[in-house]
Amino acid sequence: MNMKEMQAEILRLKKEKDICILAHSYQAHEILEIADYTGDSFALSKLAAKAPNQTMLLCGVRFMAETVKILSPEKKVLLSNPIAGCPMAEQFDKEAILRFQAENPSCTVVAYINTTAELKTVCDVCVTSSSAIQIVSKLKNPDILFIPDCNLGSFVAKKLPDKNIRLLQGGCPVHAAVTAEQAAKAKAAHPDALLLVHPECVPAVAEAADYIGSTSGIMDFAVKSDCKEFIIGTENSIAEHLQYLCPDKKFYLLSKSLICQDMKATTLADVLSCCSGTGGEEILLDADTLTKARSCIDKMIELGG
Ligand code: 13P
Ligand code: SF4
Repeated sequence: MNMKEMQAEILRLKKEKDICILAHSYQAHEILEIADYTGDSFALSKLAAKAPNQTMLLCGVRFMAETVKILSPEKKVLLSNPIAGCPMAEQFDKEAILRFQAENPSCTVVAYINTTAELKTVCDVCVTSSSAIQIVSKLKNPDILFIPDCNLGSFVAKKLPDKNIRLLQGGCPVHAAVTAEQAAKAKAAHPDALLLVHPECVPAVAEAADYIGSTSGIMDFAVKSDCKEFIIGTENSIAEHLQYLCPDKKFYLLSKSLICQDMKATTLADVLSCCSGTGGEEILLDADTLTKARSCIDKMIELGG
């Protein structure tokens, strides 16, 4: 089967079996083309809660499929490739957070959505990169522990100086690997381009940026901007998607290493075998995890609007 035939078969199967395909923006272009919904983590969480289909198929990484299951426990939720995890999501375990809470009982624990369902059960509220500032600003308690990404956490802390935000040493190994030297080199090579970076990058890279924002923030900025050239400081697939959206503009990679192997683990063939019932993994979470993890995701949706 070639790519077009695979896509046609996926479209036929998803209609026949009432499957809704959700694809994160870091997925390959050919997967975005057959998805019902595409977007960043926050957009997918909200869409997942509303979609009427009985089966939800997530093309992305495990914590995203868990979020869909938490929001729609009555639905069958499939992760298209079971090996697709997010290394950052597993950086802290429940016990470490429980210990911190015992020592700091007055702190509100804010969890980036890139965390396991199990970890969410002991957190107070979730955020995504596109909703973090808005949500943290609405919290009444100024004392906050932000986990796991210390780079996103310090970006939020800079924007909200009235909050006392404590951080632990976690982060995205893909974004955090970009250096200030690479940012300077890319800017020197493309002096007319604006540098757009994800807040998962280290502060020294963020400081060199013309715009810092989530995946969807970066895409919106580039699409709406009058500028014609951009250096993209997030997963490299975003530069490719933007090039399709804006053929008259130029998009350069900040680093050729900005590739998330987990996001790239899913292929069109995985999506096809998942739709035909021979591949993927059904996400199953026990009732206690579903209930406890849901409260911090519901809070995110409530405060994030
Ligand atoms: P977004 O929240 O921008 O979708 O990012 C998800 C992610 O995994 C970033 O590395
Ligand atoms: Fe996790 Fe980073 Fe990959 Fe996003 S880009 S899924 S945070 S490892």
